[in-house]
Amino acid sequence: MPQTSPQAAVLTELEPVVAENLDRHIRMAKEWHPHDYVPWDEGRNFAFLGGEEWSPEQSRLDQTAKAAMFVNLLTEDNLPSYHREIATRFGRDGAWGQWVGRWTAEEGRHGVALRDYLVVTRGVDPVELERARMDYMTTGYDSGDKSPLEAVAYVSFQELATRVSHRNTGKATGDPIADKLLARIATDENLHMIFYRNLVTAAFDIDPDETMKAVATEVMNFEMPGANMANFRKNSTIIAKAGIYDLRLHHDEVVAPILRTWKVFERSDLGPEGEQAREQLAEFMAGLDAQADKFVESRERMRARMAAKGEVPVQV
Ligand SMILES: [Fe+2]
Ligand SMILES: [Fe+2]
Repeated sequence: MPQTSPQAAVLTELEPVVAENLDRHIRMAKEWHPHDYVPWDEGRNFAFLGGEEWSPEQSRLDQTAKAAMFVNLLTEDNLPSYHREIATRFGRDGAWGQWVGRWTAEEGRHGVALRDYLVVTRGVDPVELERARMDYMTTGYDSGDKSPLEAVAYVSFQELATRVSHRNTGKATGDPIADKLLARIATDENLHMIFYRNLVTAAFDIDPDETMKAVATEVMNFEMPGANMANFRKNSTIIAKAGIYDLRLHHDEVVAPILRTWKVFERSDLGPEGEQAREQLAEFMAGLDAQADKFVESRERMRARMAAKGEVPVQV
């Protein structure tokens, strides 16, 4: 049946760009294997098989690294939900369908690699991790009723946010093996970001107003998947305090660079609706920048207080 709704028309118009970028992605993506990044010689049985149960002192990770690894792995774990989100929006046919499959397969590696690393090195409590995974996956992730354009804009930011957060988590572990693994995963996330970012670039040329509205909506309502994860609030505070992912990074290393690539504030092809969305976006970005400043100032004060007491604040 021919697709006639405006949203379906955008997907059809973008299909050749998807095909081209899928080819580019496959050319750029290097094969890698999760098992290469896991120190298997550290592994031993748990009590069920006559070994020793997990206890906190077995972990080489501090509280910050534990929190970040826990959040990153659980975020990766919810892949069935993300697959559902993009498969229902982008479809299973043609280049879109091929991308959905390829992306899902690559993302599946991330959870496998992180879990193997954490279980073998006894980095986090495997019982707590499994219970949290069950809860989080049972609830699932629902991004609401995003249009395909909004979804493509959202994932451009989200993939880059994940890249930054994995990269900085690697540094925070203080473990060269985890650092290498997370840097490898971050490279994948960067390629995913480039794929989606290129689609939005093309969408701007096809329909500048609708694309601008979608981008503004997604920046202004951005939320990482994971808000309904066990201990999310507590863990994201720890992650922000350490500078693994915070408002400053969100503004400077995620949203602003992508907006620059799309030349959002330089375009001269917008109609009144696109113009209005751009103004709202500019206002939002200024507010985000100010909030980020405040956050960084209060973190500096906290670090200074800790240093004065002789405590060492964790930072990336
Ligand atoms: Fe991932
Ligand atoms: Fe990704």
